[in-house]
Amino acid sequence: MAKDDKAESGTVHIRLAAPADVAAIAALEKQVFARARERFHRQQVANLVARAKGVAMVATRDGRLLGWAMALLRRDARAAAMGGRVYALAVGPEARGLGVGGLLLTRLLAAMGRHGVRRVWLEVRDDNEGAIKLYHRHGFVRDRHLKDYYGRGVHGLRMLRDHPAGAKVPPVEHVMPEPKSAPRRRPAPRKGKP
Ligand SMILES: CC(C)(COP(=O)(O)OP(=O)(O)OC[C@H]1O[C@@H](n2cnc3c(N)ncnc32)[C@H](O)[C@@H]1OP(=O)(O)O)[C@@H](O)C(=O)NCCC(=O)NCCS
Repeated sequence: MAKDDKAESGTVHIRLAAPADVAAIAALEKQVFARARERFHRQQVANLVARAKGVAMVATRDGRLLGWAMALLRRDARAAAMGGRVYALAVGPEARGLGVGGLLLTRLLAAMGRHGVRRVWLEVRDDNEGAIKLYHRHGFVRDRHLKDYYGRGVHGLRMLRDHPAGAKVPPVEHVMPEPKSAPRRRPAPRKGKP
């Protein structure tokens, strides 16, 4: 059990992912993405968590995985600095609407800032309204439409966000109190990788 998971019951913790999280992340991917081709499988998750040029984070409550997020880091010629690509973001259906996805994204962006990232981009299915709204709220703007990006007739959007130098970067660990009220009801999520 990771150190954050021993803390107060009922709180949500965000921390860096570890090899011990791989099985739970792969199970979450399976739960979130119905189609096998849309999800990361166990070996892919293991590779992403272990990747040196990347940041993977998990959200847990009482030691159980609620969600995860992952960014790839690479030299970005356009920004003449490090760039980051949000490569995975998923929250289990039972934990949606509580702010977990937003918190994971906030922490991921902060971690990217610590790695010197100055521009962040991602791809999302163009019909994934929930995720697109979340990205807009976190400063991403539409860059371009990606025709047939996810297969024939399944289009994507590329979204971008500048990551200003010197932005205040909070620590990785974060504790969010359990919400007082029940989660908001939302339409069924649309599938799609960032
Ligand atoms: C997208 C996803 C990660 C959001 O996680 P979440 O924990 O429910 O998100 P949050 O509770 O932090 O929501 C934050 C904001 O996201 C937006 N949002 C998230 N899901 C939404 C939905 N289904 N419908 C409308 N808005 C949504 C809203 O702007 C919300 O802010 P507000 O309601 O306070 O105004 C989650 O729905 C998910 O895992 N979906 C399936 C996988 C997926 O689509 N991943 C992204 C691929 S690009």
